[in-house]
Amino acid sequence: MSIRFDNKVALITGGAMGIGFATAQKFAELGGSVAILDRDVTAGTEAVRVLQSRGQRAGFFECDVADDPSVVRSLYSVRETFGGLDILVSNAGIQRYGDVIGTSEQLWDEVMDVNLKGCFHIAKSALPLMIARGGGAVVVVASVQTFTAVGNSAAYVTAKHALLGLVRAMSLDYAAKNIRVNCVCPGAIDTPMLRWAASLDSHPEKVIETCNRMHPLGRIGRAEEVANAIAFLASDWASFITGTALLVDGGMLTPTGGMGFQEGGTGAATKS
Ligand code: NAI
Repeated sequence: MSIRFDNKVALITGGAMGIGFATAQKFAELGGSVAILDRDVTAGTEAVRVLQSRGQRAGFFECDVADDPSVVRSLYSVRETFGGLDILVSNAGIQRYGDVIGTSEQLWDEVMDVNLKGCFHIAKSALPLMIARGGGAVVVVASVQTFTAVGNSAAYVTAKHALLGLVRAMSLDYAAKNIRVNCVCPGAIDTPMLRWAASLDSHPEKVIETCNRMHPLGRIGRAEEVANAIAFLASDWASFITGTALLVDGGMLTPTGGMGFQEGGTGAATKS
């Protein structure tokens, strides 16, 4: 058995670039029809043009996941275009920085509305379509920050932690409807978001170099490597997997005390 998505319709939020676009390409390559939902109309239109130029079935639907009426409208159009939905990838997310004191209520709400409530909105509209098809799979893009924290990212870390709760709740509520719900938790992945975050520093390349060293595999990840894990969880190969979180982090969360401790902590000198 190989992973195929023939006759399946997959919806990807934030599918215009980064991990979302890599995922859209993966599903399309494996025979699926792909609905890209994104608030960036230019990038979303171009992403769909690329897929269609390869003879693949894809549509772009302008959508702000933070805005429920916009999500409802998009899902209506997806159903009109593709006739239903089998797979939801809730991927759209934003990164914003600040500790609690330095985070305005507006910024807190912005992060929560996209990263957490956006997942609630899209699931609320997508699940009934999947139930109508007799089942399906949901994959949420969470983060290593679902389990750990980085400084100065209070809202982002909170939203990513909360997503696992939402994944677990949905996995129980819809198991009897033959819908599996899981999340992937990426380490640092080379996308426009990571490049933007690095560009906030006066030495972006040094930030990327540090990110490389944070992963035991010695490098940041590629968007396609996350897309592979998403495709696996959405496929029949993962037919007995639900309510779980799959780290796609190059080993980032494994080393006690981080990579610095591995390089210079107790026992480091005894390494051959
Ligand atoms: P990206 O910034 O490169 O792409 C995000 C896409 O989401 C863009 O096309 C953007 O227009 C869209 N988007 C943003 N807000 C939206 C909204 N309100 N409604 C609809 N679309 C919206 O980001 P990247 O890196 O591909 O991240 C994708 C997901 O992966 C996010 O949830 C992010 O938190 C998560 N992630 C990323 C990591 C990384 O290192 N790049 C690491 C761990 C998690």
